[in-house]
Amino acid sequence: MFFKKEISSIFFGIKIICSVLILLTLLTLSIYTGFLHFNFTVLPSGDLLEINNEYDVTFLEESAKSKLVKYGFDLFQSTPKHIGRHIDRLDKRFSGNDLSCTNCHLLAGTKPFAASLVGVVNRFPQYRGRENQMGSIQARINGCMERSMNGSILPADSREMTALVAYLEWIGRNAPKDGKVLGQGFMQINLPNRAVDLENGRAVYKGQCVLCHGSEGKGIKEANAKVYEYPPLWGPDSYNNGAGMSRVITAAQFIKGNMPYGVTYETPILSDEDAYDVAGYINQQKRPIKVNLEFDFPDLKLKPVSTPYPPYIDAFSISQHQLGPFQPIIAYYKQKFNLTKKK
Ligand code: HEC
Ligand code: HEC
Repeated sequence: MFFKKEISSIFFGIKIICSVLILLTLLTLSIYTGFLHFNFTVLPSGDLLEINNEYDVTFLEESAKSKLVKYGFDLFQSTPKHIGRHIDRLDKRFSGNDLSCTNCHLLAGTKPFAASLVGVVNRFPQYRGRENQMGSIQARINGCMERSMNGSILPADSREMTALVAYLEWIGRNAPKDGKVLGQGFMQINLPNRAVDLENGRAVYKGQCVLCHGSEGKGIKEANAKVYEYPPLWGPDSYNNGAGMSRVITAAQFIKGNMPYGVTYETPILSDEDAYDVAGYINQQKRPIKVNLEFDFPDLKLKPVSTPYPPYIDAFSISQHQLGPFQPIIAYYKQKFNLTKKK
């Protein structure tokens, strides 16, 4: 037995539910048809990011040379499977973390402004400030082995080093003689003329990065998988404090042109401010410490301004080298040594 009052409140409830359903349908329809647009985090989607046919090793014919190139490609894409710290062969454990080269040199080293390695072999040997001498491509790869991979060097005559170089030569086979191609290094940003805002960095991390890299920056590895699906940004399995990515300017430039995953240098989502703040935030978290960093840059005036570890040949604090503002430091080197510093 219902009373009139109850019946009318049931009808009221039904009306509310129907209106909500209609509204939801309209909202979904307008998003699908593109009438309404939200700036959701871009999720990995095959057609956004795909290795170009020109760099697809599966098209290679069968030969000893191709086998080496393919091994180099696999090493680049799934580094921990071949030289990781958990593999059975003790003599092949060269990496100190489970990152893969492609985690930073995206699309197997071919994505513009993700430190693209197309043509890189032609750019070496090259003068290197960190060592203050001419360095070979092998020495440069080992720079990433000891820092980005927090590991040890690959012997120059090892099959792994030979394969990596063969792969890099192959992706650069159509590059000009001087190796200069669009997309070397990272995209430039306008550095905010202030220190990193760590609070904003944390907020950007929560809004744009946490989904894939996790609230503790540990990344995500699927059960039993050797390779990360989403790599860690800090903690014991990340790059160490001697790595290029640990410089806030370098990290900000990488992030601007490549993160959240799916963006390119032509379609960035983050403002320069947000990229700078989130880069500062992740680089303030704990990560492995490299030994012997005091021997880097024998000529200290060549040290990049955002190198996070001392010694420096200027009077700015460690904190200012880690978090800015960088304009005064850049101006100092210009005035004192006539050097134009970019990172
Ligand atoms: C949709 C998932 C996703 C989101 C969101 C995302 N990333 Fe990533 N990120 C990745 C993947 C995947 C890679 C490795 C790329 C590869 O292997 O192709 C990566 C690599 C990186 C790297 C270099 C590798 C490493 O482990 O150090 C950094 C730094 C990074 N991301 C920072 C960020 C920051 C900062 C944000 C937020 C602004 C962000 N990412 C948002 C998926 C994501
Ligand atoms: C944590 C990120 C990260 C990982 C992982 C990483 N690198 Fe790098 N690599 C960098 C950065 C940053 C640079 C410097 C780019 C710049 O300053 O323009 C760099 C530079 C290089 C260069 C010189 C590029 C040039 O244009 O002169 C080579 C070669 C290279 N890496 C090879 C490798 C190889 C091979 C691996 C895997 C064994 C690897 N890297 C893993 C971040 C990384």
